Amino acid sequence: MAYWSNKVVMITGASSGIGKGIALELASRGAHLGLLARREELLQEIVDEVKNGKAVAAAADVRDVKAVREAADRFRKELGPIDVLIANAGIGTSDHATRLTPEHAEKVIGINVLGAVNSVGAVLPEMVERGQGRLVAISSLAAYRGLAKSAAYCASKAALTAYFESLRIDLRNTGVGVSIIHPGFIKTDLTSGREAKMPYLMELETGVKKIVAGIEKEKAIYAFPWQLATIVRASMLMPSAMYDWIAARNSFRE
Ligand SMILES: NC(=O)c1ccc[n+]([C@@H]2O[C@H](COP(=O)([O-])OP(=O)(O)OC[C@H]3O[C@@H](n4cnc5c(N)ncnc54)[C@H](OP(=O)(O)O)[C@@H]3O)[C@@H](O)[C@H]2O)c1
Repeated sequence: MAYWSNKVVMITGASSGIGKGIALELASRGAHLGLLARREELLQEIVDEVKNGKAVAAAADVRDVKAVREAADRFRKELGPIDVLIANAGIGTSDHATRLTPEHAEKVIGINVLGAVNSVGAVLPEMVERGQGRLVAISSLAAYRGLAKSAAYCASKAALTAYFESLRIDLRNTGVGVSIIHPGFIKTDLTSGREAKMPYLMELETGVKKIVAGIEKEKAIYAFPWQLATIVRASMLMPSAMYDWIAARNSFRE
């Protein structure tokens, strides 16, 4: 509880799903929130719901570097220096390789990777100057290996993880910490409507509590649920032929 009390937290992709869940959880723990996404009316509903702390909504597309900077400036002006960035905004894909267009891949990578890069750029200089802060990436277990019908998504999450891992190395001894979160399947709009059985699918509340706990423990990397994280990590040791055989029979995007 004390960890979040009066902390200023900027959350991207705060209008629904995991971002909204984190926002409401952190508000109940006394954090002040800078909420960013494109759907302003949904952000406003969260602002109205927040009772414990202060919350400010800013409508912006994370691909727009200027808009993200302006949003962060507004949060700073209205809430104070940003202590934690949670780079959560993201979209999924379910395109088979034969139907995946460069334009769609560009969109996925633009939001999932460059959106996070823009968000970091808007907060990091001040964090380094203050000698404190935490950057959090909401990556995915999909970052570890390629999956069926997920080329752009897996590539974006692998890039996001590598980007934040490199930041973590550069930022050692600056007082700015970095946490990379690798969730498994969580019930949100992103996973809804799929017929495929998603192993160890979690309720939103469970996923949010785990993410918040991982950040609070200032974990460098936190992958969950442990059962799926273990399977995914073990799959990294498999030869490609064996991995492809298994992965082709386990498409979670249907
Ligand atoms: N659900 C899962 O199983 C799962 C598992 C692992 C990782 N994740 C990751 O968790 C994050 C949140 O996903 P979710 O499951 O909560 O899905 P979601 O409910 O669809 O939420 C996605 C959020 O991202 C925002 N967003 C999308 N494009 C944006 C853009 N261009 N600019 C600003 N905000 C944008 C959306 O807001 P607007 O549309 O209002 O802009 C929304 O708030 C994603 O990065 C996802 O990859 C999810």
